[in-house]
Amino acid sequence: MKIAVNTGGGDAPGLNAVIRAVVHAATARGWEVYGVRQGYNGFFQPGGVHPLTPEMVRGITALGGTILGTVNKGSLFESAEGGRSGDVADQIVRRFYEMGFNAFIAIGGDGSFRIAQRFVERGVPMVCVPKTIDNDVNNTHVTFGFNTAVATAADALDKLHPTAEAHQRVFCVELMGRNCGWIALHAGLAATADVILIPEIAFDIERVAEKVRSRYRAGRNFAICVVAEGARPEGGEPSLLGPRETGREVRLGGMAEKVARAIEERCGVETRSLVLGHLQRGGHPTAEDRVLALRYGAAAVRGVEEGKFGQFVSYQPPSMVYRPLADAITTTKYVPLDSDEIRAARELGICLGD
Ligand code: F6P
Repeated sequence: MKIAVNTGGGDAPGLNAVIRAVVHAATARGWEVYGVRQGYNGFFQPGGVHPLTPEMVRGITALGGTILGTVNKGSLFESAEGGRSGDVADQIVRRFYEMGFNAFIAIGGDGSFRIAQRFVERGVPMVCVPKTIDNDVNNTHVTFGFNTAVATAADALDKLHPTAEAHQRVFCVELMGRNCGWIALHAGLAATADVILIPEIAFDIERVAEKVRSRYRAGRNFAICVVAEGARPEGGEPSLLGPRETGREVRLGGMAEKVARAIEERCGVETRSLVLGHLQRGGHPTAEDRVLALRYGAAAVRGVEEGKFGQFVSYQPPSMVYRPLADAITTTKYVPLDSDEIRAARELGICLGD
């Protein structure tokens, strides 16, 4: 058995642990593993597809990033406009078989899964591993990278508390998560934020301002507001960093600054904003993410052995199982409004903006 493995889309802490698990679990079965560099680009680059041995993945479990490199949402396909993206897929399939591969393990998010689906439709034996710090992949309990992102964000919020209090300031901190509020909600809860604005709940800026005023009235002359990058005001839209372009994900950003300006104007208190950005995707994965990633990787190889092609590894605690790719592509895992996290936040007096 000769397996190809790649990583696609935005990186997530734990990717290297998945790669290591794939290499070890496959080698233990007497199989060969080859890494495809930068998504599928490696198929078109000299040395872009190379063997991966246990020696080559030594010590990478705790390493952030991905030793294989990645590309955003398969730029190879995006640049092949006008119906040529089908040709690109065909070329990759041809190379896959010319190189003697029997199975493909693709580690990626929803965008990568959509691309993987094209290969599945062309008969390529693929098993996918879900990856995203956003935790927004449906039909899997949690993705690796999320725990690390939350830990990093909570640590940053913890660091802001004393300086906010010392200067009697309000801080609005923008966290990642795309259209879902998992990172913001978990980090905000962990770091006892006063306000948490998530995309799933449109916010009324007056309620946010009133929460800030109430703290100052009570002599707590500072506040920490967590703003998910996809948060939106009632009757309004999320803040975008660029124009909407067909076939490309929009870049979200700027809402924390908008909320900060509105708070300062309404409450008359100094309010600063900051964007935590890619720090949430960098650094070493937490121990929990390493274990999760190793389990996803080992389960992917098990999936190849059991012929679970066209499926992704789905974490249904306590087990890793397999679900059709379509189950992850067609829907997004938003924070349920009746979730226990939301209820707890409300019971703790955190303002969710509604
Ligand atoms: O999907 C992961 C993520 O980090 C999102 O939270 C964020 O919106 C996006 O990727 C940023 O992508 P890029 O690195 O392409 O700007």
